[in-house]
Amino acid sequence: MSATVTRLQDARKPLPNSQQERARMREAFRAVRSETERRAAPLSPEDQVIQSMPDASPTKWHRAHTTWFFEQFLLVPHLEGYPIFDERFAFLFNSYYVAAGPRHERPKRGLLTRPSTAEVASYRAHVDDAVDRLIRDADEATWRQIAPLIELGLNHEQQHQELLLTDILHAFAQNPTAPAYNANWRPPRLTADSDEMEIKEAVYSIGHSGTDFHFDNEKPVHRELVGPVRVARSLVTNGEWLNFMRDGGYTRPDLWLSDGWATVNTEGWKAPGYWQEIDGVWHALTLSGRKLIDPAAPVCHVSYYEADAFARWAGKTLPSEAEWEVAVREGDIADAFGVVWQWTRSAYLPYPGYVAPPGAIGEYNGKFMVSQMVLRGSSHATPDGHSRVSYRNFFYPPSRWQFTGLRLAEVPA
Ligand SMILES: [Fe+2]
Repeated sequence: MSATVTRLQDARKPLPNSQQERARMREAFRAVRSETERRAAPLSPEDQVIQSMPDASPTKWHRAHTTWFFEQFLLVPHLEGYPIFDERFAFLFNSYYVAAGPRHERPKRGLLTRPSTAEVASYRAHVDDAVDRLIRDADEATWRQIAPLIELGLNHEQQHQELLLTDILHAFAQNPTAPAYNANWRPPRLTADSDEMEIKEAVYSIGHSGTDFHFDNEKPVHRELVGPVRVARSLVTNGEWLNFMRDGGYTRPDLWLSDGWATVNTEGWKAPGYWQEIDGVWHALTLSGRKLIDPAAPVCHVSYYEADAFARWAGKTLPSEAEWEVAVREGDIADAFGVVWQWTRSAYLPYPGYVAPPGAIGEYNGKFMVSQMVLRGSSHATPDGHSRVSYRNFFYPPSRWQFTGLRLAEVPA
């Protein structure tokens, strides 16, 4: 995703001294980089190599790719005399930046036994050291240029921290022994009742309006007509999903979009992702291993197609992303953040007036604005400090390996 990272650029007056900003950035950099390592720490070198499907990446690749991002976009252009750690890594760890050069095929990331996890750790240390020096020693003009890039790199790495967990869960789901990533992992409980809030018909402001960090796809702020609509205060639960299943939810074509029905049949879906029926009792693989389904917990690992079918079964709809944003801004719905990402019925499109930033960084978000659906909120795997009301996540309609759930909405008759 690309970003308009302008908090520091927006400061029109020259600062007499950026030392406090630099100290804050060095600390933020250290904290984010070490969080990636903390998340990777329970995983063996064997765990870190596997790629269980083309959409998922190995842990080792996430660790190296986030490092390459700083090397490619920060150190090479801005740190004079920076010694590239290994010239071959740009090909291996460039994800999709065409302007940054050729790259390894995505579905073959899991075939890279070399470099080893130890070499990737050395790569990370090499880049960490160089970034720290650059923050400390850059002249003021360079600092103004690099501060937004570092902030972007940190937010990029936080996105990969969540992917690291969703991808290893998918890998573990291929293992009949149902491994646990962390035996103590506990998803949060819901806090809301099953009430609804009403949004009155009006023109509302949508998008990111502050000068703090945001991705480019959250801009420009624009006005939209929203409502009247009622948005559920709570997320859909496993218990409600079991009712949908018992009522033939996965066997009734009238509930499904055509593409969704085709996917149900091609994939043989009978339940959310990672669910398994053992002796008539539903279980799910979680980050803490295989667990009994908790009817009171939010449903997770459902695709857009499933969320849409459930809403139709319930006689309701999914909220649009604007309805979701207004509901949260009005402060009246629960579990918007930190539980599961929530599918909306909105296609992932540019906001009116959106222009991707120039250069390779412009490839971050803009070129993906077709054929995907927007999710709002954040999940229990989203790193602290990475959630906000204007945040737009996006995935293809059949995807369900992310921590994805839903809340419902209803247009009053
Ligand atoms: Fe990336």
